[in-house]
This record gives sequence, C-alpha cells and structure tokens, in this order.
Amino acid sequence: DSSLPKPLKIRLDVTDPSIVKLRTADSDTAGTRVRVLGRVHRLRSQKDVIFLVLSDGYGYLQCVLTGDLIKTYDAMTLTLETSLAIHGEMHAVPPTKHAPNDRELHADFFTVIGCAPGDMEAINTRVAPNADPQTLYDNRHLVLRGETSSSVMKVRAATLRAFRSTFEANRILEVTPPAMVQTQVEGGSTLFAFDYYGETAYLTQSSQLYLETCLPSLGDVFCICPSFRAERSLTRRHLSEYTHIEAELDFITFQDLLDHLESVICNVIDLVTADSQVARYIKDLNPNFQPPARPFKRMKYSEAIDWLREHNIPNEDGNPHEFGDDIAEAAERKMTDILNEPIFLTYFPADLKAFYMKKDPEDRRVTESVDVLMPGVGEIVGASMRMDNWDELMEAYKKEDMNPAPYYWYTDQRKYGTSPHGGYGLGLERFLAWLCGRYTVRECCLYPRFTGRCTP
Ligand code: 4AD
Repeated sequence: DSSLPKPLKIRLDVTDPSIVKLRTADSDTAGTRVRVLGRVHRLRSQKDVIFLVLSDGYGYLQCVLTGDLIKTYDAMTLTLETSLAIHGEMHAVPPTKHAPNDRELHADFFTVIGCAPGDMEAINTRVAPNADPQTLYDNRHLVLRGETSSSVMKVRAATLRAFRSTFEANRILEVTPPAMVQTQVEGGSTLFAFDYYGETAYLTQSSQLYLETCLPSLGDVFCICPSFRAERSLTRRHLSEYTHIEAELDFITFQDLLDHLESVICNVIDLVTADSQVARYIKDLNPNFQPPARPFKRMKYSEAIDWLREHNIPNEDGNPHEFGDDIAEAAERKMTDILNEPIFLTYFPADLKAFYMKKDPEDRRVTESVDVLMPGVGEIVGASMRMDNWDELMEAYKKEDMNPAPYYWYTDQRKYGTSPHGGYGLGLERFLAWLCGRYTVRECCLYPRFTGRCTP
C-alpha cells in the first residue's frame, strides 16, 4: 500500500519494516517518509511548535510537531520518557540550527504507546544531576537512560568486544571457571563466604588458579567473569563485584608478560577507537583522552619508593616511604597523576604480594610482578609470574598460614610437568574509568555493588 509510510531508508538492515530504529547517521534521508518508535528524551514546547528528541537506545532523532498535532491532548500533556510512534517526513536541519546527525522528522501523526509521569515524578526530577549520590544509585535504572551513562555502557560493550578479539587474534582460548569456590587467591580478608549445602564456600576473588590448570590442555587461556571482594573501605575504585579480565600464558618469561600486556592494552584501545561511533562517545566523555604511547614507562618498586621520597609523598603513617612499605592508593595515584603516563610498576617485595608469585632469581626479596598504573585511576592490572616449583609453593602456603589441602589441584600443576608461566587480571571498570575519564568505577558498570549497596 503506497499510502503507508515507508520505513526509514537508513535501516535497511532491519528485517521488520514496521519497526524503525535510529541507528545510522545518514544525512541523505531528506524527503523520506518514515515511522519511528522511541521515547521522549528531550522536550521543548513552544506556542506553535514542539521539538522533541526521540531516543530508542540506538540513536537520537529530533522530531518537530506543528499545526493541529500540537493542539491534541496527548501533545499538550507530553512528558519526558513517554514512548511514542511518530510518522512523518525526514528533513535536513536548517543551516543555523542543531540536531543529532543534522536531520529532523517533521511529524504528521503520532500515537502515545506508554505515558510517563510529569511534575514531582518526572524523570528529570527523580534523577536531577544535583541529586545526592544515594538517590542516583537508588534510581540507577533511570540514570542509565541518560546520555552519559548509556555512552559509558556502549564503550564498555565495545571494550569487551575488543578484548575478546585481541585474545582471539593471539590464539588465547576463552574458558569459564566457577564463581563458587573453596579457596582464596588474594588473601582471606576480602572473601565473601556463604553456606554451600552445609559447607563454607566463597565467591571467587580471581579465576587465576583455575586458569593455570587449563594451560596443559588448552594452551593460553583467558576468562571474563565477575570477581567478588568484600572490600571494607569505600573508595572510588573498589567494587564488591567487578568484571575481571584474566589471562594466563604458558612457557613465558617475565619480559614476555610485560610485552604482552603492553600490546594487549594498545591493541584494545586501537580497536575501540577505530569504531567512529565509539570514538565519538569517548571524545564526549573524556575529551583529553590520548591513546598511550609505547613503550610504557617501566619502573621498579624500589625506584618508586625513591621517587616518592624525593617528592615528599608520605606513606600511610605520614612518614617517608621505606623499602617494604605498601604504596597506598593515595600515594600511588599522586605518583601516577604527576608522571601522567601508563606505568609498569615492577618487582614488588614478596611480603607485600600474594603467595603464588615467583621470586626474582636475581633478588629474592622481590617478585616477578607488575602493576599497571594509569593516570586518574592508578592500578588497573595486577600481574606476575607464578611460583612453578613444588617445594617453594609448599613453603609459601606455610608462610601464609594456609592449609595446602584444599589447594591439592593447584599444587598438582607443579607435580605433573611444571612450566614457567604467568598471567594477569585487569579490572574492566578501572580500565573504563581511565578510558572514559570517569571519577569512579561505580559509573562504569550497569548496577554497581559496593559496601552497603546490593540494589537495584
Ligand atoms: O591485583 P589483583 O587482586 O590480582 C588478582 O586478582 C590476580 N589473581 C589476577 C591474575 O593474575 N589473574 O586484581 C587484579 C585487578 C586489579 O588490578 C584491579 O584492576 C581489579 O582487578 N580489582 C578491582 N576492581 C574493582 N573493585 C575491586 N574491589 C577490585 N579489586 C581488584
């Protein structure tokens, strides 16, 4: 029937012609009759005209309602987030005016699909930008409809795609280790325990130990799974549940591990920014973002201690840093922000690091370990070579007061053909906080979990 509106020409990829999405920016649509579906994202009512920006999760389209259309009850009571079907004709935006993708829809008909409240219940009242943070977290489901939050989620999806394709290109296989475990990886203090059919079990802190068991049968492996940490402090970079990107590589040296990390991070940034739409989100979110230059700065822990002393940045007790001190979050971030480039911080003292880390054969006080630090966030990756000697591992359990029994399957890797191997864990939300220039990792996941919050 030629009298029916034609679907928007820019959506030839969609099989059902009755549903029109706003995904493609195509300015060559003037004169096309279309039918679009979405929600009112912005609304400006004047005496003779209503301008609204429709959003459908794919894009934005300015729609112009005039004449008899705006004299209807539905038009006069229109509110933000109301879902609509609008029919009309595409036009270029007049040269002095602005609209998404420089196009607009001149409506000749519309129907309301689902109303949304106005006044005190209106979305922009409930999630006003100056609302207190708790109110915004309570209303995260509505905050996500905003341009900032939805852009971060789109960059997040692109980043996950980029990691997967980088791993694929390096022939690193994806596996899915369990989230319910009976071992700790990163210390007992941040374990979430629960009752597992009468036994104590934990939510995993890291899938590393399981990845190590895959090397003999599957070669290099990675996983992208949630990790859980019962962090007690409320900081802007700690979540209780976060998305952990972990990989484990067999028959490598520490130098190989460092080179691999640098190349994965740079490749992911290249892939993410090669998509012009995603690059635009990043530009809007973080106008000053620059892809990191290679090679990354490499700095030993001992050099960092000297650097902190020289720059009068004290340790947590307010004293000058000494070899053996933990470099706390505040000091680490100050250093990273001053140096203002990615840093590979290497060779941490064994006493500061997890039981499984391999000692440096040249200096057995320190480990073959590296934290990757990024400006604005600090540590985004923790990595190391793994202790591959059976006796040494048994010693390490003893030193940490860990019962080796539940780790028999991990220890067995040193018994049945051990190998020099290493790997890393990258916190996706921290990576995104850096890439998208967000103040906190809480803005970089769908529904953040942190101390005291497990809803919505
Ligand atoms: O340094 P972490 O604790 O290292 C491990 O878990 C290793 N077992 C990983 C491995 O080698 N396979 O954690 C790795 C990364 C950190 O650098 C950080 O980016 C992130 O995980 N991370 C957190 N992100 C958000 N909230 C938290 N509470 C986090 N704890 C760690």
